Amino acid sequence: MLSVKNVYKSYGHLSVLKGLDLEIKKGEVVSIVGASGAGKSTLLHILGTLDSPDRGEVVLNNTNVFNMNSQALASMRNENMGFIFQFHNLLPEFTALENVCIPGFIGKKNEEQVRDRARKLLASLGLSGREEHKPSQLSGGEQQRVAVARSLINEPAIVFADEPSGNLDSKNAQELHKLFFDLKDQFQQTFVIVTHNNELAEMADRKLEIVDGVIAK
Ligand SMILES: Nc1ncnc2c1ncn2[C@@H]1O[C@H](COP(=O)(O)OP(=O)(O)OP(=O)(O)O)[C@@H](O)[C@H]1O
Ligand SMILES: [Mg+2]
Repeated sequence: MLSVKNVYKSYGHLSVLKGLDLEIKKGEVVSIVGASGAGKSTLLHILGTLDSPDRGEVVLNNTNVFNMNSQALASMRNENMGFIFQFHNLLPEFTALENVCIPGFIGKKNEEQVRDRARKLLASLGLSGREEHKPSQLSGGEQQRVAVARSLINEPAIVFADEPSGNLDSKNAQELHKLFFDLKDQFQQTFVIVTHNNELAEMADRKLEIVDGVIAK
């Protein structure tokens, strides 16, 4: 479904990715581990088309994404990809419900349908009654569940998560991890998850390690 081929990325003299290849299949959960600075976030941003490689291809459903114009790429990203980040995840001035709806509103969808789906997602994540709360009025685990709901609002083919449980205590982390695998079992949701959490990394269908700018064999 999504692949990168022979991807290189440098920052000045620092070569981070050095000819990396990776293919992600529909319905699988892939974890990416590696030392701090190994290039995990860099790779996730390239897979998510938020950043472009210096060399190499990113192919989504047989389309080389960087051959698309930036508008087409942005709408492809919004329709097909969901993102969960560790920090600065939710917009603080918006309610939980609004945060979940925002990527849905971008796609010129019917607003009432987006709100309805957002409410259902929040309810399914145990956040009924919290729709009108601002992020600062929610616990860390609740905020992260709102971020999961937001990542799913457009029924994306693939969800990218960068240290999704890095901020959570072990109980909340375990609940979040269970949620990912419930979504995989129920909806064949595809995930690419960067994590330092060994338990989560081991639960994945495939655990990949970045060493020296490539996926370790
Ligand atoms: N915009 C940038 N400009 C310059 N250097 C960068 C930039 N982004 C990342 N780097 C450098 O590239 C390397 C890889 O960064 P990256 O964020 O991908 O690492 P990581 O594996 O996600 O690390 P961590 O586990 O600490 O999050 C690091 O040495 C980092 O300092
Ligand atoms: Mg990182």
